[in-house]
Amino acid sequence: MSLRSAVLDVGYASVVRPALFRAHGGDPELIHESLIGFLGGLGPAARSALRLVSGGPTSPVTVAGVRFPGRVGVAAGLDKDARAVEAWSALGFGFAELGTVTALAQPGNDRPRLYRLKSSQAIINRMGFNNAGAKAMADRLYSLGVRRGELTCGIPLGISLGKSKVTPVADAVPDYVASLRMLAPYADYIAINVSSPNTPGLRTLQEGDLLRDLLTSLTREASQIVHPLGPVPIFVKIAPDLSDAQLDEVIGVVTDHGGRGIIATNTTLARDGLAPADRHLADQAGGLSGAPLTARALQVVTRIAASTTLPVIGVGGIMSPDDATRMIDAGARLVQVYTGFIYSGNGLVAGINARQLGRTT
Ligand SMILES: Cc1cc2nc3c(=O)[nH]c(=O)nc-3n(C[C@H](O)[C@H](O)[C@H](O)COP(=O)(O)O)c2cc1C
Repeated sequence: MSLRSAVLDVGYASVVRPALFRAHGGDPELIHESLIGFLGGLGPAARSALRLVSGGPTSPVTVAGVRFPGRVGVAAGLDKDARAVEAWSALGFGFAELGTVTALAQPGNDRPRLYRLKSSQAIINRMGFNNAGAKAMADRLYSLGVRRGELTCGIPLGISLGKSKVTPVADAVPDYVASLRMLAPYADYIAINVSSPNTPGLRTLQEGDLLRDLLTSLTREASQIVHPLGPVPIFVKIAPDLSDAQLDEVIGVVTDHGGRGIIATNTTLARDGLAPADRHLADQAGGLSGAPLTARALQVVTRIAASTTLPVIGVGGIMSPDDATRMIDAGARLVQVYTGFIYSGNGLVAGINARQLGRTT
């Protein structure tokens, strides 16, 4: 462990996390909102100070033609509306995946919809793509001067697209295409989220024919948007709950129909690995993330890496630098964190950055 990550770990565990987890009467969603608001409110001087403390990304790598300064990124869902987009590089991240956004603004599911399972180092959420919509994100990124390929915020930005809740699954393609059209000018990559468990029917878009139609339309749309860097690369984010046969089908479709990478995995519907103190929350609807997902996400990444040369972004239960190293060793080119960041702060990011990870191309 590096000295920087050790100091950040102690600081986060003894000062920041207790204060943060107690704020707002312990309501995890309000705490999340104020954390994002706080990060989004930092000015250039505060961000520079934070960058000094956090340390920068290391181990650059080129994936799908995009140069990533570091291997560890912000997973989708942390910054759904790009409110904190200027702060992520100052926390040591090498990239950030914004969203998931939908073509239409929507409130998401009723609250409460976010639960911390502390003894299990886990979270259950059924947020349901609460977001201000693709147009609002495009306006925000435009006003910040963000442009694809220009690293305006210091790091590459992915944008995760989902289906609007009111749009029937049968009309999903034009819904995703509308978002892509609005956001492609700002995204270094686009992530197609077909794996959230919290929008009814969404996961059926992982089925062979539906995924093929969606990906074909999106890659066609991307190729019609003229840009010096060529079409924006499209990654597909998948669930950890696919059978081996379903997973192999997804890998085949993404490989054959213009996908440039696979992000594995989203949250799980399984409830294995919960500590006894958290079992009363097992029946809460939604996706489980964090430590109970570590082994399954690694297994999925291993299977994908063994069967395709497409790059894999490993996400799911990365709670320590060792977990990140195992993901990279299993074949992931990049990793992302959400729950681990909530429990360990930027000490986790610094700890991963301190590792010399994997190939560079
Ligand atoms: C509260 C919450 C909201 C999330 N929202 C999204 C989302 O909007 N889009 C998405 O692709 N994944 C979303 N995720 C899933 C994460 O990006 C990640 O795939 C998953 O949590 C596993 O990683 P982790 O164990 O590091 O949290 C969300 C996760 C959490 C905990």
